[in-house]
Amino acid sequence: MIREDIKTLLAENNSTEEGLIELSDLNLYVDKICRNASVICSYEEGKLSGLIAYYNNDTHNILGYLTVLVIARKYRSKGLGKILLESSLQDLKNKHFKKYRLEVLKQNKKAFKLYTKYGFVVLEDRGNVWLMEVDL
Ligand SMILES: CC(C)(COP(=O)(O)OP(=O)(O)OC[C@H]1O[C@@H](n2cnc3c(N)ncnc32)[C@H](O)[C@@H]1OP(=O)(O)O)[C@@H](O)C(=O)NCCC(=O)NCCS
Repeated sequence: MIREDIKTLLAENNSTEEGLIELSDLNLYVDKICRNASVICSYEEGKLSGLIAYYNNDTHNILGYLTVLVIARKYRSKGLGKILLESSLQDLKNKHFKKYRLEVLKQNKKAFKLYTKYGFVVLEDRGNVWLMEVDL
């Protein structure tokens, strides 16, 4: 079941050293994204290799919010992150959202570079993270 695949992927590839913000309760978090977020997954060799989850329920401010993007270690730097990010950008554009936000740990240079490539700019310094935004 996809929920279990997501839990496994996050449990196996989630560390602040790698760039993900600490999740205090994995079960609760996964339940929350499955209920409230749009989730796009990639599969390799029959196994979940990556996912992006983003909220598109702020229809008042037409603001999307990326909550998690993660690629399994084995499949990193092969273009999957870009594909998933592009898919979410396209989906939000199709739904006429105007802005897309995310938080990224300041030490996560790789993710920062990826987001910058897609036009995200720093909106706010939030201590250990940057709040970034792109116009859609
Ligand atoms: C960050 C992450 C999602 C990127 O996904 P990916 O599939 O590895 O990245 P891609 O192959 O699509 O490359 C996207 C861009 O990231 C950067 N990048 C990728 N691999 C890199 C590397 N080894 N070193 C530096 N930058 C790198 C480049 O800017 C690259 O664009 P380019 O190929 O045009 O130069 C992935 O590495 C990951 O899951 N990291 C751990 C979790 C995480 O940090 N998530 C983001 C939290 S905000």
